[in-house]
Amino acid sequence: MPSSSRIDALLKPVKIRGVELPNRVIMSPMTRGASPNGVPTPAVAAYYRRRAEGGVGTIFTESVFVEDKGTMGKFDLEGGDDRQTGWPLMFTDAALEGWRHVVDEVHAAGGLIFPQLMHLGIQRTPARGQAWSDIHISSPSGIFGTPDQIAALKEDAAKALNCPEKSMTEAEILAVIDAFACAAANAKAVGFDGIALHGGHGYLIDNFLREETNRRTDRWGGDHVGRTRFAVELVRAVRKAIGDEMLISFRFSQWTHHDLDAQLSKTPEQLKQILEPIAEAGVDIFEASARDFRDTVYEGSPLNISGWTRKLINKPVVMVGGTGVRRDRYESALTPPQVVDNVDEVMERYVAGEFDLLAIGRALLNDPDWLQRARTGEPFLPFNPACLKIGYVE
Ligand SMILES: Cc1cc2nc3c(=O)[nH]c(=O)nc-3n(C[C@H](O)[C@H](O)[C@H](O)COP(=O)(O)O)c2cc1C
Repeated sequence: MPSSSRIDALLKPVKIRGVELPNRVIMSPMTRGASPNGVPTPAVAAYYRRRAEGGVGTIFTESVFVEDKGTMGKFDLEGGDDRQTGWPLMFTDAALEGWRHVVDEVHAAGGLIFPQLMHLGIQRTPARGQAWSDIHISSPSGIFGTPDQIAALKEDAAKALNCPEKSMTEAEILAVIDAFACAAANAKAVGFDGIALHGGHGYLIDNFLREETNRRTDRWGGDHVGRTRFAVELVRAVRKAIGDEMLISFRFSQWTHHDLDAQLSKTPEQLKQILEPIAEAGVDIFEASARDFRDTVYEGSPLNISGWTRKLINKPVVMVGGTGVRRDRYESALTPPQVVDNVDEVMERYVAGEFDLLAIGRALLNDPDWLQRARTGEPFLPFNPACLKIGYVE
């Protein structure tokens, strides 16, 4: 092993809110669907442990569901759908015991671990055998998106997803916030080191942030600053539930799953005005989720979204997207990417101050020892398409 390497700067520990992260590398959240009945198995624990053994300092788990009728609930678990029952929960005694084991395994390997808590919002779909009309969809305004996006939906989906009369009520909004707080308290109780909130990609927190899906005129809506209220209240509730010592990371994105060209913020000033209140509510780290770190965000600027966030907000920022892999702009995350060695380019951006922490997704899914190879200069492994499949936890 060389005594110095091109990624050494990322391997130094860093202290945030009194918590020492072993290094600046994070495993990016990746849904695995390998937790039957919402309970992470020993195989899931071993999967995360292997990444910590491979040198990842902090693991952000796959999305884990909070308890609400608009997302995974006991009903779905009992419904017997293979795909949905593989998604893990941050409630039920059995799921929490499963997580306790995951946390212990990662800690034993010297890593930290945060669960990524999420609520599907308008991306809820029926379980196998269920009708669209039988599921509860949590939607800020009962609007799925732009007229084009609505037109692209099948008839029954369009009907279920576009019901302004079913906009979330005040009580439903408060119940979801409470569900996040309860899930965060559960995570603390089983030993997690922090909480990662999924505020991007077109799920519920993100649905509130955007004008396409949030047309509310009450205190949960308004302009881009008014639309941050749901995220702000949710972060406050999570902070209250976990106390002052644990970290909170907040993932956001310009794009959504159903509109890769969407823009959460049209200008840097808007981005600052969106993130500032969320930061003040108790966030310690912002995960600026890009599909590729080379993607620029505002016309005329070469900076990517993490570079802009770092410039605008005085909090540590995570860069994510495209480390060790490459795909075409509109290609799905589930299409096997090309393996590339772009480590030098990533490090140039680190030195240029575009990010503080680096999240790595598919490269680590494909190879738990990816970081060691980046360090030693050993060639990277070819991409194994099987690793993208639901249920893979090698
Ligand atoms: C199979 C798969 C599952 C994913 N699941 C999640 C998820 O649960 N939550 C999330 O925020 N992002 C999810 N992502 C996105 C990744 O966290 C990451 O942002 C994306 O893959 C880009 O990083 P990469 O190029 O290093 O893979 C997923 C990506 C893949 C490939």
